[in-house]
Amino acid sequence: MLEKFSKWKSNLTPTKTESTVDLDPNTVPAHVAIIMDGNGRWAKQKGLPRIAGHREGMKVVNKIVSKANELGVEVLTLYAFSTENWKRPKTEVDYLMKLPERFLGMELPKLMEENVKVRLMGSLDHLPEHTLKAVTKAVHETKDNTGLVLNFALNYGSRFEMVEAMKEIAKQVEKGEMSSDEIDADVIGAHLMTAELKDPDLLIRTSGEIRLSNFMLWQLAYSEFWFTDVLWPDFNEENFVEAITVYQKRARRFGGV
Ligand code: FPP
Repeated sequence: MLEKFSKWKSNLTPTKTESTVDLDPNTVPAHVAIIMDGNGRWAKQKGLPRIAGHREGMKVVNKIVSKANELGVEVLTLYAFSTENWKRPKTEVDYLMKLPERFLGMELPKLMEENVKVRLMGSLDHLPEHTLKAVTKAVHETKDNTGLVLNFALNYGSRFEMVEAMKEIAKQVEKGEMSSDEIDADVIGAHLMTAELKDPDLLIRTSGEIRLSNFMLWQLAYSEFWFTDVLWPDFNEENFVEAITVYQKRARRFGGV
């Protein structure tokens, strides 16, 4: 009986996959950023509407958040909606705007349990009231958590972010609070939406597209990039571990030798 019980219990405990065992716990990237791409194509391949791909993509977010947290990643930034995504058909935009509340509605207790701290970057001004309410609630409720920072890029665009930062800096110069000579990379970084975060160590983009699509252009200056053909709804923990394994084999020189 006891033997049966411990077998059942060991099945419940997440076991580390072979590939996780290969990871060096000392060089896990502190900040991983992901461009979650390929939801539409995944749905199309299955003869489903595009929103079915987004719904499936949302489930993957859950798995990758847990895995990142388990591995000791400090910050996971996810590109959930770009400033350019408003150009999509209204039905799709409306659906994408429902996903944060759907995800957080279901997963907030688990995020609390896993000590995850939700954070946002993007222009919150144009978000629908219901989306804003859900994300603000999650940010508030998780504010004292000390585990993984889950940074949702929502209505985010890097050029918009930089324009806003430049305007803010220009205002400070105009008011005489700063001289133009004082503007350096640190000043610019401090005015971006990632001011208190380290730059990403690793950028992952799924679905075979090899571009940045206006994502963290400043912050990715020295990040390692890993691209995969896997469509986001098919992306899993093993793919995530594979990306980190490849990252750990890279020699980062930051412009040095
Ligand atoms: C890009 O795929 C994906 C998006 C624009 C949305 C990403 C959103 C999710 C994965 C779900 C977000 C979940 C939460 C919790 C907010 P695409 O539609 O451009 O795919 P395609 O290039 O194949 O058309």
